[in-house]
Amino acid sequence: MKLSILLFFSIAVLYAAHVENDVERHFVFPQWKKFHKLNKALLHSHDHHAKVDIYTNDIATTPYIEQKKLFPIGSIILKPLYKKNDRGYLARLVVMVKMHKNYDKAHNDWWYGVYDKTGTTVWFEGKIQSCIICHERAKKTDYLFSEKVMEEIEFQD
Ligand code: HEC
Repeated sequence: MKLSILLFFSIAVLYAAHVENDVERHFVFPQWKKFHKLNKALLHSHDHHAKVDIYTNDIATTPYIEQKKLFPIGSIILKPLYKKNDRGYLARLVVMVKMHKNYDKAHNDWWYGVYDKTGTTVWFEGKIQSCIICHERAKKTDYLFSEKVMEEIEFQD
């Protein structure tokens, strides 16, 4: 009896993990180039050691520009990292997705991902601690550095 209960829970947990991954992948790829690119010229990222663009999906665009305190579920912010001063060499894509309530309650329910330039090779996914620790600096704008980024964009335009 106990064994069957255990088995049931294991299957339920595995299924939940599977569904969650599917949802995440569906959100992000392959349509990111259709997102809104907020900046024109490349931005310099001291923390990510690269030149970057900032892309937002429809849900995230206005809240990001307005530097909101909380983002709606389904918000996606994506940042290609370039190793040179042009867009010739895309080293990797970093992504943040606002998940369902209680996905990661202590850290505002963000999911993080790191991919190669096509988005098909996964390097890291999920509640990545190294990302969370630094993005916590931007806690008052929902773990996003919208203030810094928008300031740089305005300065450029
Ligand atoms: C040492 C600090 C630091 C770490 C670690 C870090 N980031 Fe960031 N991240 C930033 C800063 C600062 C920005 C604002 C733009 C810029 O300067 O790159 C940013 C911007 C972003 C953005 C655009 C949305 C925003 O916040 O404006 C995404 C997406 C992102 N990072 C993903 C990640 C992922 C995924 C990881 C972990 C693999 C990560 N970051 C680790 C500092 C960090």
